[in-house]
Amino acid sequence: MIHIATAQDITALLSIENASFAGDRISRRSFRHLLGHGNTLTLLDARVGAPRGYLMLLFRANSSVARLYTIATHPDFLGRGVAAALLRRAELAARERGCDRLRLEIRHDNQASLGLFHSRDYRIFGQYADYYEDGMHAHRLEKPLAGAR
Ligand SMILES: CC(C)(COP(=O)(O)OP(=O)(O)OC[C@H]1O[C@@H](n2cnc3c(N)ncnc32)[C@H](O)[C@@H]1OP(=O)(O)O)[C@@H](O)C(=O)NCCC(=O)NCCS
Repeated sequence: MIHIATAQDITALLSIENASFAGDRISRRSFRHLLGHGNTLTLLDARVGAPRGYLMLLFRANSSVARLYTIATHPDFLGRGVAAALLRRAELAARERGCDRLRLEIRHDNQASLGLFHSRDYRIFGQYADYYEDGMHAHRLEKPLAGAR
């Protein structure tokens, strides 16, 4: 059910994005730009007519650190392991690209996301003040990717 998203999946990605985030949303235009960029990998979990969740990774040339740019599960499918499965696939994909660490930012008030990443061995290593549209701070999290090539 998880596949690499292409421009044909933008409507599905938007439906998850718009249902999952109140602000700082990725627009159709930004999705088009990001999906066309060689340094991103977007994984989508979807059945026909039912997009369940997605995740986007960013890679930088000459860097062994991959960035988890966003992850979201559609509200209809929360708590069923959708995000956990996407994250497993993303860690594998990052290792295959030669990365040895995965990093991301999480809002201080996002308990579900903190629960997800803490339970999958991500650790807080820093903060960004006033990081989001509404002024909320961000935790910076990181996980070493075992077995990275
Ligand atoms: C965070 C989010 C992606 C989790 O998605 P999900 O598909 O419901 O998560 P899963 O069912 O795969 O759960 C995996 C783990 O996350 C943690 N978790 C999930 N929901 C949680 C909650 N409400 N509170 C605390 N921990 C939670 C649990 O540790 C769970 O592991 P377990 O089932 O082994 O106990 C989802 O809540 C979401 O899309 N939120 C809105 C968008 C968002 O905030 N994205 C993150 C931006 S950094």
